Amino acid sequence: MALVYRARPAHGVAWVTGASSGIGRATALELCRRGWTVAITARRRPELEAVAAEGSGPGRIVVCPGDVTDLAQMEGVVAAIEAEHGPVVLAFLNAGTFFRDEVAVFDAAMVEKTFAINVGGVANGLQPLLTRMAERGRGQVAVNASVAGYGGLPTSSAYGATKAALIAMTESLKFAMDLKGVAMQLVCPGFVGTPLTDRNEFPMPFIIPAEDAARRICDGFETGGFEIAFPRRMAWLLKALNHLPYPLYFALVARFTGFRK
Ligand SMILES: NC(=O)c1ccc[n+]([C@@H]2O[C@H](COP(=O)([O-])OP(=O)(O)OC[C@H]3O[C@@H](n4cnc5c(N)ncnc54)[C@H](OP(=O)(O)O)[C@@H]3O)[C@@H](O)[C@H]2O)c1
Repeated sequence: MALVYRARPAHGVAWVTGASSGIGRATALELCRRGWTVAITARRRPELEAVAAEGSGPGRIVVCPGDVTDLAQMEGVVAAIEAEHGPVVLAFLNAGTFFRDEVAVFDAAMVEKTFAINVGGVANGLQPLLTRMAERGRGQVAVNASVAGYGGLPTSSAYGATKAALIAMTESLKFAMDLKGVAMQLVCPGFVGTPLTDRNEFPMPFIIPAEDAARRICDGFETGGFEIAFPRRMAWLLKALNHLPYPLYFALVARFTGFRK
């Protein structure tokens, strides 16, 4: 299905959260190369300033630090971007984190923290954005989930649950936002080489560099379509596995991931 609206640099500003490293950083730099004024948010100002300095035209990058777990800060960041640089017409709500499960130790506090950043952080960006975009009758918002949200994977109980929540949230919002002229998009990357995955000690099939991920994400912003999932073979493999009966699903996922008791 075609998007309701596709944002262009001439329409306003792009906003990327979690842009101090990894996928967010690479996407901000790619958007800048494609002519956007890009407002970037994360907690670490020096890292954001380094990204802004690295940005090469025809666009430009402006730094707007903030913590996505704080709704008042996100309201303030969006208000400041719009006052200083113009309306946000494209947003990539990407900030997120991963805490690996300890086998046989369930940590409720870790689940709460992961939800606060990955789901709460997106919700805190959506509130100021969707209100404004719905009033203007146009906007494009992409939420960074993960193929890990398609179904349960080993050692990812909190992370996978947050990403499944983001998939359901974005799907749900699409119905109402379509009526308001606001295009919702879902980004579902497989493994991407970033500081977040650098610490993984398990095999990461089909892993791609962050710059490659950023190009695919920005192509998806331009061409439209609800889901931007890549690499395709990883996304389709996991989608197919999730349609299998559970005994087969658990056996194959344990085998592919090398996860053993
Ligand atoms: N790498 C992968 O293989 C992969 C695959 C699928 C999905 N993803 C998703 O992609 C997104 C980016 O991950 P990444 O791999 O690029 O990781 P990363 O390099 O660790 O980047 C995470 C970004 O999120 C920001 N962030 C974290 N907590 C924040 C907070 N409370 N407030 C504001 N910003 C915050 C970090 O900035 P500060 O620390 O400066 O705040 C950083 O810029 C995440 O949502 C992740 O789940 C990644």
